[in-house]
Parts: sequence; C-alpha cells; structure tokens
Amino acid sequence: MKILNVVGARPNFMKMAPIIEAMSRCPKKMEHLLIHTGQHYDEKMSKAFFEDLDMPKPDINLEVGSGSHAVQSGRIMMAFEHVCLQEKPDLVIVVGDVNSTMACTITAKKLGIRVAHVEAGLRSRDMRMPEEINRLCTDVLCDHLFTTDRFANENLLAEGISKSRIVFVGNVMIDTLVKHREMAAGLGMHLKLGLERRKYATLTLHRPSNVDDRRILEGILVALHEVSESLPIIFPIHPRTRKMTEEFGLTGYFHAGAEVKGIWTCEPLGYLEFLHLNMNAALVLTDSGGLQEETTVLGVPCITMRDNTERPITCEVGTNTIVGNDPERILTAVRDVLGGKYKKGQVPELWDGRAADRIVDWLGGAYSEAHERGIFHFEHWASRNSQ
Ligand code: UD1
Repeated sequence: MKILNVVGARPNFMKMAPIIEAMSRCPKKMEHLLIHTGQHYDEKMSKAFFEDLDMPKPDINLEVGSGSHAVQSGRIMMAFEHVCLQEKPDLVIVVGDVNSTMACTITAKKLGIRVAHVEAGLRSRDMRMPEEINRLCTDVLCDHLFTTDRFANENLLAEGISKSRIVFVGNVMIDTLVKHREMAAGLGMHLKLGLERRKYATLTLHRPSNVDDRRILEGILVALHEVSESLPIIFPIHPRTRKMTEEFGLTGYFHAGAEVKGIWTCEPLGYLEFLHLNMNAALVLTDSGGLQEETTVLGVPCITMRDNTERPITCEVGTNTIVGNDPERILTAVRDVLGGKYKKGQVPELWDGRAADRIVDWLGGAYSEAHERGIFHFEHWASRNSQ
C-alpha cells in the first residue's frame, strides 16, 4: 500500500508527525512519502518544526510559496497532480484545513485516488473564513473522514455523509503534545525571559479577520496593551501580522526588547519553546484553532478572539472562552481569568495520545482487505478519470 502524506503550513506539521511515526512502525504494509507543498517556507514557519518534531525531511517539496488563494491553490494543484501521476499512490492523506489540504484533495480525487482527511467534520459555519471553505470542500470529497470529537461526527452526518466514511479516532495534534510535554516542561524558557510561572500571558494573532483591518487590529492591540501593563504578554508574531502592523503603523504597541512589561514580540517560536511558554502561562490569548485544543489539554485558560469556533468541544468540555474581537469583551474576559473566574475543564474523549495509532490500524485493516479483493488500484482509477 502506497501513501502520500501531505503537509503545507505550520499547523499541519504537528498533526502529520505522529501519523508518520505510527506508519513507520509497520513498514511492511505501508510505503509512505511525505509531500510538502511549500505553502509555508520560512525557516521559522516550517523547518524549525521538522527539527523539533523529529520529522523526516519531505521526500518532495512543491515549493509553491505565497500568493492569493487562487494562485496558491492553483500552483499546488498543478504540482501535486504531477506527483500523483508519477507516484501512483493508493491513498493520499491530508490534515487540517489549510489551502494545501483542499487543493491536494481536489487534485487526487480528480485522478480517482482515494483521500483520507484527518481532523474532518470541524465547522465554524462562518463562510468568511477561508478554512471553513477548505474544510467543506475537503470533507465532501474524502473517502475516509477521521474525526476528533462527537460534534464533528454530528456535523458530517447532518451534511448527509454516510456513516461508513466517518471514523472517530481522537486528536492527532494531542498525540504530539502528549509526546513532547515532558521535554518542553524541562526547557525553563520562561525563566530565561525573566518571567514567573503563571504571571504572564502568551498571544497569537494572525486571522485575516483580525489583522487585515486596521480598526479591528488596533482595537485588539489597545486592549492587550492595557492588559500588558499588569501582565506581560509574549507575542511570537506571525509573518502576516508583522506585515500588517508595519503597514498600518501599529508597531508602537510592541516592545522589541526582552522587557517583562508590555507586549513583547519575537519571531515565530519552535514547537517545544511555545509549548513550554503556554503550559506555564496564566492564560493564552489567541485566534488560532489548534491552541484552543492544546490549552484544553494543558488546563490553561484560553481566551479566543473570534466570533465563533469550529472546535466547540474546547468550550463545552475544555478551558476555552470565545470573546470575539471587541476590546471591552477581551478586557472583561482577562479580568475574569485573573480573578480566578474560569472553567477548569476536562480532556475530551480519545484525546489520549493514541489517535495516530488508531488511524494507521484502521487503514492497515481496511486496505489489506481491499487489496486482497483488488478494489484499490491506481491504474484503474486513473484510466477511468483521464478522459
Ligand atoms: C495559513 C492558513 C491558516 C493557518 C495559518 C497558520 C490557509 C488559508 N490559511 O494562514 O489556516 O492558521 O497558515 O500559520 O491555508 N508568509 C511568510 N512566510 C511563510 C508563510 C507565509 O512570510 O513561511 C507570509 C506571506 O506574506 C503570506 C502571508 O504570510 O502572504 C500569509 O501566508 P498564507 O500561507 O497565505 O496564510 P497564513 O495567514 O499563514
């Protein structure tokens, strides 16, 4: 059985790492290649994660780089089609909800190749989010939909997707967290920065809806600057956000040096360093998807500066609170947490560090049976779809 594992952007790497590891434990059954689309290409957005997570170098890098959604997706499709035709995989595995996820799914399906989506069924119901469009396109096409929680199962069933395509396995990103938790705890990074445990916050901010509009971005920064007067904020800044703050002339809200007061910005951090900072923080402020899940498992309060979440389990079971980007609501939520008013939370079902094993076991079983019956064969699909 030959599999192409696809990654493209930063949040993909920690989802794919445990899958590759689980596949490597059964080399006889699974020949697997790692394809990096090159959607993220900066050393700090890509290479640093491969090193931290001990991932093998990509077998093929499509080097598509940045561009508008159409340009980036189109480039990925053209390059990935070539790879599929050359490698003739039995299965393509995509993770998450970035442009690479959607573009490679469409490409592979049009060649008649089976595709599995890991982290299927998440829905924000917000079509302004490019990720929501990516999630919908990907899930409607994929043959196997590996889900993280019961909300995802319900979403897929409500969209008319057959039960036989859905497999509830848990959360692969949490596999990576469980594996690296102890290693990250030992780093002592907050101490090196002169910070006391539980006496600082971490911040991530990169959603176009928060950073591409000057008024919204400034509103958030004004509120966070006020927070940072009493609680230092560590802000590893995403390239998109750096670009926008510079363009809008808003960098005055940041402290460039390692001061223990104010919003302290730094380059994007590696996986282990950031995990260390988050596990010791008093709270996490974010608009990212993955951090809502990681903080739930770490038991750290998370304030999500978005109007909705595709991960409601983190609010219902975990430590996450959705506050939108209104400055007053952000300030109230921070005051609540600092005053001890926050959800203590629990770890959702099957977020236990073994999701990737479940995926690989399931695929091993399903595909060896199918191969015996001669059902999955690339040449057959390719000839059927090439007209
Ligand atoms: C992408 C994902 C988003 C994910 C985020 C995590 C989509 C639609 N969006 O958003 O879901 O949460 O990654 O980081 O797939 N840039 C660099 N260096 C890089 C990559 C990007 O400087 O290595 C800059 C470029 O100016 C680029 C901009 O960041 O135009 C945005 O990058 P892009 O990949 O388009 O989207 P993200 O905002 O990173």
